[in-house]
Amino acid sequence: MLYNHVTELIGNTPLLRLDPQVHGIPGLELYAKLEYLNPFGSVKDRIAWGMIRDHVTDLVAGGKTLIEASSGNTAKALQVLASVHGLDLKVLTNRVKVGEVRDVLLLLGTDLEELPGLSECPDPTVPNDVFSTIATIIASEPGRYFHTSQYTNPDNVTTHQDTTGREIAADIGGIDLLVGGLGTTGSTRGTATQLKMLNPAMQTIGVVSTTEDFIPGIRSEAEMWEVGLFEPGFYDQIVAIRSTEAIDATLDLVRRHGLLVGPTSGAAYAALREHLRCNPIPEGAGCSAVMIVCDRIEWYLSYLRSRRPELFGQKPRARPADLTEAEVASAPVVRVDELTSWLGDPDVVRVDTRGAMAYRIGHVPGAINLRDDLLEDLLTQGSPFPASSRLVFICPIGEYSRRIAAFLTQRGHRAYSLDGGIVAWRDAGHALETGTR
Ligand SMILES: Cc1ncc(COP(=O)(O)O)c(C=O)c1O
Repeated sequence: MLYNHVTELIGNTPLLRLDPQVHGIPGLELYAKLEYLNPFGSVKDRIAWGMIRDHVTDLVAGGKTLIEASSGNTAKALQVLASVHGLDLKVLTNRVKVGEVRDVLLLLGTDLEELPGLSECPDPTVPNDVFSTIATIIASEPGRYFHTSQYTNPDNVTTHQDTTGREIAADIGGIDLLVGGLGTTGSTRGTATQLKMLNPAMQTIGVVSTTEDFIPGIRSEAEMWEVGLFEPGFYDQIVAIRSTEAIDATLDLVRRHGLLVGPTSGAAYAALREHLRCNPIPEGAGCSAVMIVCDRIEWYLSYLRSRRPELFGQKPRARPADLTEAEVASAPVVRVDELTSWLGDPDVVRVDTRGAMAYRIGHVPGAINLRDDLLEDLLTQGSPFPASSRLVFICPIGEYSRRIAAFLTQRGHRAYSLDGGIVAWRDAGHALETGTR
Protein backbone atom coordinates (compact mmCIF):
# COMPACT_ATOMS: atom_id res chain seq x y z
CA MET A 1 0.00 0.00 0.00
CA LEU A 2 1.50 3.32 -1.06
CA TYR A 3 1.27 6.46 1.08
CA ASN A 4 2.64 9.93 0.34
CA HIS A 5 2.84 11.45 3.80
CA VAL A 6 3.15 10.05 7.31
CA THR A 7 -0.12 11.75 8.32
CA GLU A 8 -1.94 9.48 5.86
CA LEU A 9 -1.02 6.57 8.14
CA ILE A 10 -3.06 7.96 11.01
CA GLY A 11 -6.32 6.15 11.73
CA ASN A 12 -8.06 3.34 9.84
CA THR A 13 -6.63 0.94 12.39
CA PRO A 14 -7.65 -2.73 12.36
CA LEU A 15 -10.52 -4.03 14.47
CA LEU A 16 -9.60 -7.50 15.70
CA ARG A 17 -12.17 -10.03 16.89
CA LEU A 18 -10.73 -11.76 19.94
CA ASP A 19 -11.04 -15.52 20.02
CA PRO A 20 -14.01 -16.43 22.29
CA GLN A 21 -12.20 -19.66 23.24
CA VAL A 22 -9.43 -17.51 24.69
CA HIS A 23 -11.48 -14.82 26.50
CA GLY A 24 -13.90 -17.51 27.62
CA ILE A 25 -16.94 -15.28 28.33
CA PRO A 26 -20.08 -16.99 27.01
CA GLY A 27 -22.15 -14.82 24.66
CA LEU A 28 -19.46 -12.15 24.28
CA GLU A 29 -18.24 -10.99 20.89
CA LEU A 30 -15.21 -8.93 21.81
CA TYR A 31 -13.29 -6.70 19.43
CA ALA A 32 -10.08 -4.76 20.02
CA LYS A 33 -9.57 -1.47 18.17
CA LEU A 34 -5.83 -1.60 17.59
CA GLU A 35 -4.83 2.01 18.10
CA TYR A 36 -1.23 1.02 18.79
CA LEU A 37 -0.87 0.51 15.05
CA ASN A 38 -1.08 4.26 14.46
CA PRO A 39 2.25 5.58 13.06
CA PHE A 40 3.56 7.22 16.26
CA GLY A 41 2.26 4.36 18.33
CA SER A 42 -0.97 5.37 20.01
CA VAL A 43 -4.59 6.49 19.99
CA LYS A 44 -3.28 10.05 20.46
CA ASP A 45 -1.94 10.28 16.90
CA ARG A 46 -5.49 10.92 15.76
CA ILE A 47 -6.16 13.87 18.03
CA ALA A 48 -2.71 15.40 17.72
CA TRP A 49 -3.36 15.65 13.99
CA GLY A 50 -7.05 16.46 14.47
CA MET A 51 -6.20 19.48 16.64
CA ILE A 52 -3.71 21.04 14.18
CA ARG A 53 -4.59 19.73 10.72
CA ASP A 54 -6.85 22.63 9.75
CA HIS A 55 -4.44 25.22 11.16
CA VAL A 56 -1.10 23.92 9.91
CA THR A 57 -0.66 26.35 7.02
CA ASP A 58 -1.39 29.37 9.24
CA LEU A 59 0.75 28.03 12.07
CA VAL A 60 3.74 27.57 9.76
CA ALA A 61 3.22 30.98 8.12
CA GLY A 62 2.94 32.64 11.55
CA GLY A 63 6.00 30.81 12.95
CA LYS A 64 3.92 29.59 15.91
CA THR A 65 5.07 27.31 18.70
CA LEU A 66 2.65 24.62 19.79
CA ILE A 67 2.11 24.29 23.53
CA GLU A 68 0.40 21.38 25.31
CA ALA A 69 -0.02 19.65 28.65
CA SER A 70 0.90 16.02 28.21
CA SER A 71 3.02 13.39 29.89
CA GLY A 72 3.19 10.94 27.06
CA ASN A 73 1.40 9.90 23.94
CA THR A 74 -0.03 13.28 22.89
CA ALA A 75 3.37 14.88 23.34
CA LYS A 76 5.05 12.19 21.23
CA ALA A 77 2.55 12.49 18.39
CA LEU A 78 2.47 16.30 18.49
CA GLN A 79 6.26 16.47 18.49
CA VAL A 80 6.59 14.31 15.38
CA LEU A 81 3.85 16.26 13.61
CA ALA A 82 5.38 19.58 14.66
CA SER A 83 8.84 18.48 13.51
CA VAL A 84 7.74 17.30 10.07
CA HIS A 85 5.96 20.63 9.55
CA GLY A 86 8.87 22.71 10.84
CA LEU A 87 7.04 23.84 13.99
CA ASP A 88 8.30 23.93 17.56
CA LEU A 89 6.49 22.35 20.50
CA LYS A 90 6.65 23.12 24.20
CA VAL A 91 5.27 20.45 26.55
CA LEU A 92 4.45 20.96 30.20
CA THR A 93 3.72 18.16 32.60
CA ASN A 94 3.71 17.54 36.28
CA ARG A 95 6.19 14.75 35.89
CA VAL A 96 6.64 12.12 33.23
CA LYS A 97 6.60 9.03 35.39
CA VAL A 98 7.81 6.58 32.76
CA GLY A 99 11.49 6.68 31.84
CA GLU A 100 11.12 5.41 28.27
CA VAL A 101 8.56 8.11 27.50
CA ARG A 102 10.80 10.87 28.83
CA ASP A 103 13.74 9.50 26.83
CA VAL A 104 11.77 9.35 23.59
CA LEU A 105 10.50 12.90 24.07
CA LEU A 106 14.05 14.11 24.66
CA LEU A 107 15.25 12.16 21.63
CA LEU A 108 12.56 13.80 19.52
CA GLY A 109 13.84 17.19 20.69
CA THR A 110 10.81 18.12 22.80
CA ASP A 111 11.12 21.27 24.90
CA LEU A 112 9.86 19.49 28.02
CA GLU A 113 9.15 21.34 31.25
CA GLU A 114 8.41 19.17 34.27
CA LEU A 115 6.51 20.96 37.02
CA PRO A 116 5.72 19.84 40.52
CA GLY A 117 2.10 18.90 41.08
CA LEU A 118 0.06 21.39 43.10
CA SER A 119 0.05 19.19 46.17
CA GLU A 120 3.83 18.83 45.94
CA CYS A 121 4.61 22.49 46.39
CA PRO A 122 5.26 24.10 49.72
CA ASP A 123 2.67 26.71 48.84
CA PRO A 124 -0.39 25.23 47.14
CA THR A 125 -1.78 28.72 46.58
CA VAL A 126 1.02 29.49 44.12
CA PRO A 127 -0.47 29.00 40.65
CA ASN A 128 2.20 26.64 39.40
CA ASP A 129 -0.02 23.88 38.07
CA VAL A 130 0.35 22.92 34.42
CA PHE A 131 -2.69 24.79 33.15
CA SER A 132 -2.01 28.11 34.84
CA THR A 133 1.65 27.88 33.90
CA ILE A 134 0.63 27.45 30.26
CA ALA A 135 -1.67 30.47 30.57
CA THR A 136 1.20 32.54 32.02
CA ILE A 137 3.59 31.47 29.27
CA ILE A 138 1.08 32.31 26.56
CA ALA A 139 0.34 35.71 28.12
CA SER A 140 4.05 36.49 28.39
CA GLU A 141 4.51 36.39 24.61
CA PRO A 142 1.23 37.23 22.93
CA GLY A 143 0.90 35.72 19.47
CA ARG A 144 3.72 33.22 19.82
CA TYR A 145 1.89 30.10 20.97
CA PHE A 146 -0.89 27.88 19.68
CA HIS A 147 -2.39 25.97 22.58
CA THR A 148 -3.76 22.67 21.30
CA SER A 149 -5.38 22.15 24.71
CA GLN A 150 -6.32 18.47 24.52
CA TYR A 151 -8.15 18.62 27.88
CA THR A 152 -10.67 21.18 26.67
CA ASN A 153 -10.50 21.15 22.88
CA PRO A 154 -13.73 19.84 21.31
CA ASP A 155 -11.64 18.66 18.31
CA ASN A 156 -10.35 15.94 20.62
CA VAL A 157 -13.87 14.52 20.84
CA THR A 158 -14.99 15.17 17.26
CA THR A 159 -11.83 13.63 15.81
CA HIS A 160 -12.71 10.34 17.51
CA GLN A 161 -16.33 10.70 16.54
CA ASP A 162 -15.44 11.25 12.89
CA THR A 163 -12.70 8.64 12.67
CA THR A 164 -12.52 5.98 15.43
CA GLY A 165 -16.30 5.79 15.86
CA ARG A 166 -17.06 5.81 12.14
CA GLU A 167 -14.44 3.14 11.44
CA ILE A 168 -15.93 0.78 14.03
CA ALA A 169 -19.44 1.49 12.72
CA ALA A 170 -18.32 0.72 9.17
CA ASP A 171 -16.65 -2.51 10.27
CA ILE A 172 -19.32 -4.05 12.55
CA GLY A 173 -22.22 -1.57 12.90
CA GLY A 174 -23.76 -0.87 16.29
CA ILE A 175 -22.42 -2.52 19.44
CA ASP A 176 -23.63 -3.06 23.01
CA LEU A 177 -20.60 -2.00 25.01
CA LEU A 178 -17.60 0.31 24.54
CA VAL A 179 -14.71 0.21 27.01
CA GLY A 180 -11.73 2.54 27.14
CA GLY A 181 -9.32 4.28 29.50
CA LEU A 182 -9.91 7.86 30.62
CA GLY A 183 -7.21 10.47 30.16
CA THR A 184 -8.75 13.47 28.46
CA THR A 185 -11.89 11.35 27.79
CA GLY A 186 -11.75 12.30 24.09
CA SER A 187 -11.41 8.75 22.73
CA THR A 188 -14.28 7.20 24.67
CA ARG A 189 -16.61 10.20 24.33
CA GLY A 190 -16.04 10.71 20.62
CA THR A 191 -16.21 7.04 19.71
CA ALA A 192 -19.30 6.44 21.87
CA THR A 193 -21.10 9.49 20.50
CA GLN A 194 -20.81 8.08 16.99
CA LEU A 195 -21.69 4.49 17.92
CA LYS A 196 -24.72 5.55 19.99
CA MET A 197 -26.28 6.84 16.78
CA LEU A 198 -26.50 3.19 15.72
CA ASN A 199 -27.47 1.82 19.13
CA PRO A 200 -28.72 4.46 21.61
CA ALA A 201 -28.76 1.77 24.33
CA MET A 202 -25.05 1.15 23.98
CA GLN A 203 -23.24 1.32 27.33
CA THR A 204 -19.98 3.20 27.72
CA ILE A 205 -17.50 2.14 30.37
CA GLY A 206 -14.68 4.49 31.33
CA VAL A 207 -11.61 3.08 33.06
CA VAL A 208 -9.44 4.85 35.65
CA SER A 209 -6.89 3.70 38.18
CA THR A 210 -7.75 3.48 41.85
CA THR A 211 -6.91 6.69 43.68
CA GLU A 212 -3.66 5.67 45.33
CA ASP A 213 -2.38 3.75 42.31
CA PHE A 214 -0.76 4.65 38.97
CA ILE A 215 -1.43 3.24 35.51
CA PRO A 216 0.51 5.35 32.99
CA GLY A 217 -1.75 6.95 30.36
CA ILE A 218 -4.96 7.14 32.37
CA ARG A 219 -6.01 9.18 35.35
CA SER A 220 -7.03 8.08 38.79
CA GLU A 221 -10.56 8.51 40.11
CA ALA A 222 -9.42 11.55 42.10
CA GLU A 223 -7.74 13.26 39.14
CA MET A 224 -10.73 13.28 36.79
CA TRP A 225 -11.97 16.62 38.16
CA GLU A 226 -9.03 18.34 36.43
CA VAL A 227 -10.25 17.24 32.99
CA GLY A 228 -12.24 19.94 31.25
CA LEU A 229 -13.89 17.55 28.78
CA PHE A 230 -14.96 15.08 31.48
CA GLU A 231 -18.72 14.60 31.78
CA PRO A 232 -19.37 11.97 34.45
CA GLY A 233 -22.98 11.55 33.31
CA PHE A 234 -21.82 10.48 29.87
CA TYR A 235 -20.56 7.16 31.20
CA ASP A 236 -22.77 4.27 32.25
CA GLN A 237 -20.05 3.09 34.56
CA ILE A 238 -16.59 4.22 35.60
CA VAL A 239 -14.50 1.30 36.75
CA ALA A 240 -11.41 1.85 38.90
CA ILE A 241 -8.70 -0.75 38.34
CA ARG A 242 -5.59 -1.43 40.40
CA SER A 243 -2.26 -1.55 38.59
CA THR A 244 -1.80 -5.20 39.61
CA GLU A 245 -5.07 -6.11 37.85
CA ALA A 246 -4.12 -4.01 34.81
CA ILE A 247 -0.75 -5.73 34.53
CA ASP A 248 -2.26 -9.22 34.84
CA ALA A 249 -4.80 -8.42 32.13
CA THR A 250 -2.07 -6.87 29.95
CA LEU A 251 -0.12 -10.13 30.20
CA ASP A 252 -3.25 -11.99 29.19
CA LEU A 253 -3.63 -9.81 26.09
CA VAL A 254 0.07 -10.15 25.25
CA ARG A 255 0.54 -13.84 25.87
CA ARG A 256 -2.83 -15.34 25.03
CA HIS A 257 -4.27 -12.95 22.45
CA GLY A 258 -1.01 -11.92 20.77
CA LEU A 259 -1.60 -8.19 21.32
CA LEU A 260 1.57 -6.36 22.39
CA VAL A 261 -0.31 -3.67 24.26
CA GLY A 262 0.39 -1.32 27.15
CA PRO A 263 -1.13 -1.33 30.66
CA THR A 264 -4.13 0.89 29.89
CA SER A 265 -5.34 -1.73 27.43
CA GLY A 266 -4.97 -4.31 30.18
CA ALA A 267 -6.92 -1.97 32.47
CA ALA A 268 -9.72 -1.80 29.86
CA TYR A 269 -9.77 -5.59 29.53
CA ALA A 270 -9.84 -6.02 33.32
CA ALA A 271 -12.66 -3.45 33.60
CA LEU A 272 -14.71 -5.20 30.92
CA ARG A 273 -14.33 -8.53 32.71
CA GLU A 274 -15.28 -6.91 36.02
CA HIS A 275 -18.33 -5.25 34.44
CA LEU A 276 -19.51 -8.53 32.93
CA ARG A 277 -18.92 -10.36 36.21
CA CYS A 278 -21.31 -7.93 37.94
CA ASN A 279 -23.69 -7.70 34.96
CA PRO A 280 -23.54 -11.15 33.35
CA ILE A 281 -24.83 -11.62 29.82
CA PRO A 282 -28.19 -13.43 30.20
CA GLU A 283 -28.02 -17.05 29.09
CA GLY A 284 -28.79 -17.40 25.39
CA ALA A 285 -28.32 -13.66 24.80
CA GLY A 286 -25.32 -12.03 23.15
CA CYS A 287 -23.24 -8.93 23.73
CA SER A 288 -20.89 -7.21 21.32
CA ALA A 289 -18.16 -5.11 22.89
CA VAL A 290 -15.25 -3.04 21.62
CA MET A 291 -12.28 -2.11 23.74
CA ILE A 292 -9.93 0.64 22.72
CA VAL A 293 -6.38 -0.63 22.74
CA CYS A 294 -4.40 2.57 23.13
CA ASP A 295 -0.70 1.84 22.80
CA ARG A 296 2.16 -0.67 22.86
CA ILE A 297 3.95 -2.49 25.65
CA GLU A 298 7.51 -1.41 24.81
CA TRP A 299 7.10 2.03 26.40
CA TYR A 300 6.37 0.48 29.75
CA LEU A 301 9.14 -2.06 30.30
CA SER A 302 10.69 -0.12 33.21
CA TYR A 303 7.25 0.37 34.78
CA LEU A 304 6.58 -3.37 34.50
CA ARG A 305 10.07 -4.29 35.74
CA SER A 306 9.75 -2.16 38.85
CA ARG A 307 6.34 -3.62 39.69
CA ARG A 308 6.87 -7.21 38.58
CA PRO A 309 10.62 -7.98 38.59
CA GLU A 310 9.92 -11.72 38.49
CA LEU A 311 8.67 -11.28 34.90
CA PHE A 312 12.22 -10.26 33.99
CA GLY A 313 13.95 -13.12 35.76
CA GLN A 314 14.64 -11.04 38.88
CA LYS A 315 13.68 -11.91 42.44
CA PRO A 316 10.36 -10.41 43.59
CA ARG A 317 11.18 -7.57 45.95
CA ALA A 318 9.22 -6.05 48.76
CA ARG A 319 8.04 -2.56 47.88
CA PRO A 320 6.54 0.21 50.02
CA ALA A 321 3.42 -0.03 47.84
CA ASP A 322 2.82 -3.57 49.15
CA LEU A 323 2.30 -2.44 52.77
CA THR A 324 -1.21 -2.67 54.17
CA GLU A 325 -3.02 0.46 55.34
CA ALA A 326 -2.65 -0.78 58.95
CA GLU A 327 1.12 -1.11 58.50
CA VAL A 328 1.30 2.39 57.01
CA ALA A 329 -0.79 3.80 59.86
CA SER A 330 1.66 2.33 62.38
CA ALA A 331 4.61 4.36 61.01
CA PRO A 332 6.43 6.56 63.52
CA VAL A 333 5.77 10.26 62.91
CA VAL A 334 7.59 13.38 63.99
CA ARG A 335 5.65 16.62 64.51
CA VAL A 336 6.95 19.83 62.95
CA ASP A 337 7.77 21.34 66.36
CA GLU A 338 9.72 18.21 67.34
CA LEU A 339 11.64 18.24 64.07
CA THR A 340 12.85 21.81 64.70
CA SER A 341 14.65 20.55 67.79
CA TRP A 342 16.27 17.72 65.79
CA LEU A 343 17.70 19.98 63.09
CA GLY A 344 21.06 20.51 64.80
CA ASP A 345 21.68 16.77 65.22
CA PRO A 346 24.10 15.53 62.52
CA ASP A 347 22.65 12.00 62.84
CA VAL A 348 19.22 13.11 61.64
CA VAL A 349 18.92 12.59 57.87
CA ARG A 350 16.07 14.55 56.26
CA VAL A 351 14.85 13.17 52.94
CA ASP A 352 12.45 15.21 50.81
CA THR A 353 10.63 12.88 48.39
CA ARG A 354 9.07 15.54 46.13
CA GLY A 355 10.15 16.40 42.60
CA ALA A 356 13.24 18.52 41.96
CA MET A 357 11.36 21.73 41.26
CA ALA A 358 9.17 21.57 44.37
CA TYR A 359 12.31 20.85 46.39
CA ARG A 360 14.12 23.83 44.88
CA ILE A 361 11.22 26.15 45.68
CA GLY A 362 11.46 25.30 49.36
CA HIS A 363 12.43 22.43 51.67
CA VAL A 364 13.11 21.73 55.33
CA PRO A 365 16.63 23.05 56.07
CA GLY A 366 19.26 20.42 55.48
CA ALA A 367 16.96 18.01 53.64
CA ILE A 368 18.33 16.08 50.71
CA ASN A 369 16.12 15.39 47.69
CA LEU A 370 15.35 11.82 46.65
CA ARG A 371 12.29 11.89 44.44
CA ASP A 372 9.73 9.19 45.30
CA ASP A 373 10.28 7.02 42.22
CA LEU A 374 14.08 7.11 42.61
CA LEU A 375 13.78 6.42 46.33
CA GLU A 376 11.57 3.40 45.68
CA ASP A 377 14.02 2.10 43.08
CA LEU A 378 16.78 2.36 45.67
CA LEU A 379 14.70 0.70 48.37
CA THR A 380 13.96 -2.32 46.20
CA GLN A 381 17.73 -2.96 46.10
CA GLY A 382 18.12 -2.63 49.90
CA SER A 383 18.49 0.39 52.16
CA PRO A 384 20.91 3.15 51.13
CA PHE A 385 20.75 4.74 54.62
CA PRO A 386 23.14 4.19 57.55
CA ALA A 387 21.56 2.06 60.28
CA SER A 388 22.75 4.49 62.98
CA SER A 389 20.89 7.55 61.60
CA ARG A 390 17.46 8.81 62.46
CA LEU A 391 15.64 9.18 59.13
CA VAL A 392 12.88 11.73 58.53
CA PHE A 393 10.88 11.51 55.31
CA ILE A 394 9.11 14.58 54.01
CA CYS A 395 6.45 14.59 51.32
CA PRO A 396 3.69 17.11 50.43
CA ILE A 397 1.19 16.26 53.18
CA GLY A 398 2.68 13.40 55.16
CA GLU A 399 0.90 10.49 53.46
CA TYR A 400 3.52 9.05 51.17
CA SER A 401 6.27 9.63 53.74
CA ARG A 402 4.35 7.45 56.24
CA ARG A 403 4.54 4.54 53.83
CA ILE A 404 8.30 4.96 53.45
CA ALA A 405 8.81 5.36 57.19
CA ALA A 406 6.75 2.21 57.86
CA PHE A 407 8.71 0.27 55.23
CA LEU A 408 12.09 1.24 56.68
CA THR A 409 10.94 0.74 60.28
CA GLN A 410 10.12 -2.85 59.35
CA ARG A 411 13.70 -3.13 58.11
CA GLY A 412 15.20 -2.04 61.40
CA HIS A 413 15.70 1.70 60.75
CA ARG A 414 14.69 4.51 63.05
CA ALA A 415 12.51 6.12 60.39
CA TYR A 416 9.85 8.83 60.79
CA SER A 417 7.34 10.61 58.64
CA LEU A 418 7.02 14.40 59.00
CA ASP A 419 3.44 14.75 60.21
CA GLY A 420 1.45 16.88 57.74
CA GLY A 421 4.42 17.07 55.36
CA ILE A 422 5.97 20.20 53.93
CA VAL A 423 2.60 21.95 54.01
CA ALA A 424 2.40 21.60 57.83
CA TRP A 425 6.00 22.79 58.13
CA ARG A 426 5.22 25.86 56.04
CA ASP A 427 1.91 26.54 57.82
CA ALA A 428 3.69 26.50 61.17
CA GLY A 429 5.82 29.36 59.87
CA HIS A 430 9.13 27.48 59.85
CA ALA A 431 11.93 28.51 57.54
CA LEU A 432 12.25 26.90 54.14
CA GLU A 433 15.60 26.49 52.47
CA THR A 434 15.59 27.14 48.72
CA GLY A 435 17.76 25.92 45.85
CA THR A 436 19.72 22.69 45.59
CA ARG A 437 22.30 21.29 47.97
C1 LIG B 1 -1.96 4.85 26.88
C2 LIG B 1 -3.22 5.63 26.99
N1 LIG B 1 -4.37 5.00 27.21
C3 LIG B 1 -5.53 5.67 27.33
C4 LIG B 1 -5.59 7.03 27.24
C5 LIG B 1 -6.91 7.76 27.39
O1 LIG B 1 -7.29 8.44 26.26
P1 LIG B 1 -8.17 9.77 26.30
O2 LIG B 1 -7.24 10.91 26.54
O3 LIG B 1 -8.78 9.84 24.95
O4 LIG B 1 -9.17 9.63 27.38
C6 LIG B 1 -4.42 7.70 27.05
C7 LIG B 1 -4.42 9.15 27.04
O5 LIG B 1 -3.42 9.81 27.21
C8 LIG B 1 -3.20 7.00 26.90
O6 LIG B 1 -2.03 7.64 26.70
